[in-house]
Amino acid sequence: MILITGGAGFIGSNFVLDWLTVSDKPVINLDALTYAGNLENLATINGDKRHIFVKGSIGDFDLVTKLLTKYQPRAVINFAAESHVDRSIHGPEDFIQTNIVGTFRLLEAVRTYWNKLDDSAKRNFRFLHVSTDEVYGTLKNDDPAFKESNPYMPNSPYSASKASSDHLVRAYYHTYALPVLTTNCSNNYGPYQFPEKLIPLIIHNALSGKPLPIYGDGQQIRDWLYVKDHCAAIRQVLQDGRLGETYNIGGLNEKANLDVVETLCSILDELSPRTDGKPYTEQITFVKDRPGHDRRYAIDATKIERELGWKPAETFERGLRKTVQWYLDNQPWVQNVTSGAYQHWVGNHYGTI
Ligand code: NAD
Ligand code: DAU
Repeated sequence: MILITGGAGFIGSNFVLDWLTVSDKPVINLDALTYAGNLENLATINGDKRHIFVKGSIGDFDLVTKLLTKYQPRAVINFAAESHVDRSIHGPEDFIQTNIVGTFRLLEAVRTYWNKLDDSAKRNFRFLHVSTDEVYGTLKNDDPAFKESNPYMPNSPYSASKASSDHLVRAYYHTYALPVLTTNCSNNYGPYQFPEKLIPLIIHNALSGKPLPIYGDGQQIRDWLYVKDHCAAIRQVLQDGRLGETYNIGGLNEKANLDVVETLCSILDELSPRTDGKPYTEQITFVKDRPGHDRRYAIDATKIERELGWKPAETFERGLRKTVQWYLDNQPWVQNVTSGAYQHWVGNHYGTI
């Protein structure tokens, strides 16, 4: 049995679905169901006894302790977080509470549980913390890609809060010998991503006839990874990662935002053309840049490939096409998550564009 947190979010739900196709080991899924958590992501495993969902926070020491004591998991994987950079700029408080204080309380509950295990269970236990490449800050166009040895230089409240949580995880290894692993991954895309993030937002706005907002000059670079590849990498690190180590995970796929949006437009032109026959690129609108916007992320993933034999299986072209098709096939899911609070966020953040 494993316990995962944040398993109703984008990556966490993909992880649960993948886990249950490759493993017969049950999953306890602890998720606070914030605006980003959605049980519809897990609808295909409704009734599957191997999935035990618990609504609650990683910051609730008593609840986490109860779950650990009851289910005796051999691993905890921490996906739970506030994850959207723009929201962290509008209001950092939730990011501090969940990503820093929440991770701290989770670590405390796990440490207390782990201390009471017998020697063999102690040795086999793992705490895997899912983190981001944003902790390393920003790169110039000719800088080498981020290595695990790069210094932490976070630039947004989101990345600063993730960096803090990574430091806590590291400290629990060095101070208490808690068997931890940390992964730092680049931008994910794929099914079930909340349409506040670039790729699903562009697909949703394009199909709704709305502007496609590009921050600044659109030349910021991200290293895109198909979410299923991220899930496979996490399973690999959980199985064979060296204790106390961090592993960078990336897509070998650096693209400028404008290129990503233009590629999405051309896939949509083909799969779901506009009724007026015009290309979706006509909806592209340049808007005010994100404050403190990191220019470029790129991951050097040689360590995980060399030590654990992982590398991405999906190409960007194929992954993006699959993703567009998924959103086209799952419009009811999109309609459900883009009502209510989502409308409020869009109005607040993008104003009248
Ligand atoms: P997401 O925002 O889609 O999902 C986060 C999930 O965590 C939601 O289900 C939410 O309800 C839950 N949650 C929030 N606060 C909680 C709390 N206090 N207790 C329990 N659950 C809580 O995020 P995501 O994109 O799936 O990211 C998952 C993790 O991966 C995060 O830690 C993020 O920092 C990291 N990450 C994301 C990306 C990416 O591109 N999306 C890349 C690298 C790393
Ligand atoms: O690098 C990993 C990180 O990737 C994760 O840690 C974060 O949780 C995840 O949200 C993501 O962060 P980004 O800020 O890179 O993702 P986002 O989808 O918000 O933006 C991607 C790029 O697109 C970024 O350069 C900003 C730009 N953008 C985004 C939006 C929402 C736009 O130009 N217009 C937009 O409307």
